[in-house]
Order: sequence, then structure tokens, then C-alpha cells
Amino acid sequence: MRLSASAVGTFLVLAATSTFQSAQAFTAVRGPLSTAATTSSAPSSPFLPTFSRVRQQASSSSSSTTSLSMSFSVGIVGATGAVGKEIRQCLEKREFPVSQLRIFGSERSAGKTMPTEKYGDIEVELFDVAKARECDVVFLAVSGDFALEHAEAICKGDDGAVVIDNSSAFRYKPEIPLVVPEINGKETKKSKLIANPNCTTAIGLMAIWPLIQKFGCKRVIMSTYQAASGAGQPGMDELQDGTRVYLEGGTPENSIFAYPLPFNVIPQIDKFQENGYTKEEMKVTWETRKICGLADDFPVSCSAVRIPTIRAHSEVIIMETEKPVDIKEAQKVLDEAPGVKLVDNPDELAYPMPITATGQYDVEVGRLRKSLVFGDYGIEFFVSGDQLLRGAALNAVLVGEEMVSNGSIKEKATA
Ligand SMILES: NC(=O)c1ccc[n+]([C@@H]2O[C@H](COP(=O)([O-])OP(=O)(O)OC[C@H]3O[C@@H](n4cnc5c(N)ncnc54)[C@H](OP(=O)(O)O)[C@@H]3O)[C@@H](O)[C@H]2O)c1
Repeated sequence: MRLSASAVGTFLVLAATSTFQSAQAFTAVRGPLSTAATTSSAPSSPFLPTFSRVRQQASSSSSSTTSLSMSFSVGIVGATGAVGKEIRQCLEKREFPVSQLRIFGSERSAGKTMPTEKYGDIEVELFDVAKARECDVVFLAVSGDFALEHAEAICKGDDGAVVIDNSSAFRYKPEIPLVVPEINGKETKKSKLIANPNCTTAIGLMAIWPLIQKFGCKRVIMSTYQAASGAGQPGMDELQDGTRVYLEGGTPENSIFAYPLPFNVIPQIDKFQENGYTKEEMKVTWETRKICGLADDFPVSCSAVRIPTIRAHSEVIIMETEKPVDIKEAQKVLDEAPGVKLVDNPDELAYPMPITATGQYDVEVGRLRKSLVFGDYGIEFFVSGDQLLRGAALNAVLVGEEMVSNGSIKEKATA
């Protein structure tokens, strides 16, 4: 049965509205399913409260205390895009210590005014390396080609800015840290250029990492259900416009996705590689190994599929473990894990979904069960996480917070 165009339009508007509202309420995120017995009741992650709490934690470390009274000149390149918009909102909501926020864009948006809640109206500046270098820290939310061309020039030398890059340009370079703060935040001390992981990897690792710690792991198999916004603002626009066209009886056009996405699923994200996997799938393999410090041949396999949702990626994850798995213990481990919200009560139909994960800082994890394939030595589960937040903007801002706390981001002396 086809939905009417107005029904879908209403749903899309509601989804966007609920995204904004739930993002605002992140400090008390326990959602409508929180009454379920096995739904998370743990306090939020030390990373998830606003930056003021991070500052309190930091005050116990001598390297951090100087940071407490400081605030920083922060730049965002690509703040008109899907990830950049979220970075700006995370900085505002998490009370990142910003003395000045500068927004850089291309000729398309330079000169326009961007309203912000905390910092007033900001004029978008045409990107220029010299201007970006004046900042203390710059968040890049642009293409990999752009990052390859400019990131190192922005951070070069003592007077350059720290750069936190959302693209894949530097993720696989051994000397560049690839960081999920809850897993390997200490790596941020090693470089002024930090790579943020692929969204699919970051979301999955929030659950995989605590389970590795508890039960060990021999292999990971992942299947994904990825939202249109993984392809940025143009991906969201193509899904929304195409859905309207379809519902009016027309044939949706596609330029961002290989085929029309409305009412379809597409088993291809990014380019095919020689081994038959796509680059998106290989990113999960390469990045899981690097972030978790696993062997170069550790078996991780992924099948990545684009689905017609606007936001939040979901994943089926199967782990073969070294130790026998007790599901109650696994639930406890995940309930206590930072950045995770356990939503796992089949009796009450409580499980992770994009509609509830959207706008949340925590990744939802549920459907925990022993694997029929691996028996006692295997666990299967489902995760949904907001990839624009956990898989991009939030992770980048958490990296920034970590670097303020450990003194890696320094306030430049002003003349
Ligand atoms: N979408 C996701 O779920 C996701 C998740 C993780 C990582 N990432 C990565 O994050 C990066 C940004 O992705 P996105 O989804 O936010 O893309 P997007 O929505 O297409 O936004 C791209 C941004 O890049 C800016 N830009 C393009 N050319 C520029 C130039 N020459 N100078 C300055 N700014 C320029 C655009 O600004 P103008 O409007 O001024 O042109 C726009 O704000 C990509 O590397 C992507 O792979 C995305």
C-alpha cells in the first residue's frame, strides 16, 4: 500500500523535528522505552555530559588545569553541510569553551549569515588556509580531497591549528591517530591532525569494544542498514524529493545514489574494490583493527546496504568470542558502557530503531542473543546510532574535548 504524499511529508517533518528535540534533551536520554527492565539505567558516559563535567574530571590532572580557564578560537569548515551543522550544535549544547566561532565555506555560502543560539549571527567566510590557521582548533566537515589538500597546511608548525578531520583522507595513515575517545582517546596526544572514524565503524564499536573487553573476540561479522544522510545533505534531499515524486506517480531521479532510493534498498555504498567488497565495507574492517589495536589480519567482515531512512544507521553484529558468553553479563557490560543505551526487552517490544536513535548521543543496543552458529562462544545483536552525531559530529567534538583536557589544544597568544 502506498502512503499518501502528505502522510510521508508529515513523517519526514516529524522526524526532523524529533531529531532536534531529542538532541536538545540528551542529558536525560532514557527515551520512551526506559521502563523496560533491561533498558539502560546506568548513568551517562563520562563523555556524554556537557563539557563542564569533562572540565571537572580534567581538574585532577595537572596538564589540564590550565585549560580550565581557557577558551578557544574554533573553526568549522563545511558548517552548511550535514555533519558541519551538527558539529556547530554539539559545540553549543556541550558548552565547548569557545571564545570565537568562525565558519568557513565555499563560494556557494561565503558571505551568507548563519544564526547560532550561543554565538549570535556568524558570517560564513570563504575558506582560506591562512584564516583557518588563526584558529586554535578546526573541525573539517568537507570531502576527503579537500582534507588531503588543506589539512596538513592548516596544522603545520607550532602556530598552526589542531585539525579534527571527518573525512577518510588520513584514517589509514599509520602516523595519524584514528580516534573514538571512549576507546583510544589517549592517541590524541600524538598528533595535531586527528582522523574521525567512518560513521558505521564508530557506531558499531560502541558495543563491540566493551564486549571484546569482557569476552574476547575471534571474529566480527556485520550487516548494515544505512540512512540517506550518510551521503550528506544531498543524500537526504534526493530521498525526500524522490519520495514525493514517487508518491505523485512519477519516477524518482537519482544522482547521489546508484539507483532511486525511495521504497528500495541498495546493496552498494561507495566504490567496489578488487575483492568484491565496497570501500564502505572495507572501512569497517580497516578502522576496527586500527582503533581497537587488533592485528592487521583480524577477521572483520561487513555488508553495507543503503535503506530509505533519513537518519541513523543500524547494524546487525555477530561476534565469535574467546570466552563463553552469558547474555545477562553482556547486557550488564553494555548497560555500563559509555556511549551505549541498552534497549533490550523483547517482551515489551523494546529494541533499537533509527526512529528512537535519531538525535541521541548514545548508540542503542539490543536483541542480544547467543549465536546459533557459534553457540556459547558467540553473540548476536542489533544497534542503531545517529551517524551524524556518534559517527561524525559528536565523536569529533569529544575528540576536541579530550584534547582540551589533555592540553593538546592550546590557546594562541593574541598580539
Ligand atoms: N554524512 C555522514 O553521515 C558522515 C559521517 C561521517 C563522516 N562524514 C564525512 O564528513 C564529511 C562531510 O560530509 P557531509 O555529509 O556533511 O557532506 P555535505 O552535507 O555534502 O557537506 C559538505 C560541506 O563541504 C563544504 N565545502 C565543499 N567545498 C568546499 C570548499 N571548497 N571550501 C569550503 N567548504 C566546502 C560545503 O560548504 P558550502 O555549502 O559552502 O559549499 C558543505 O558545507 C565528508 O568527508 C564525509 O565523508 C559524513
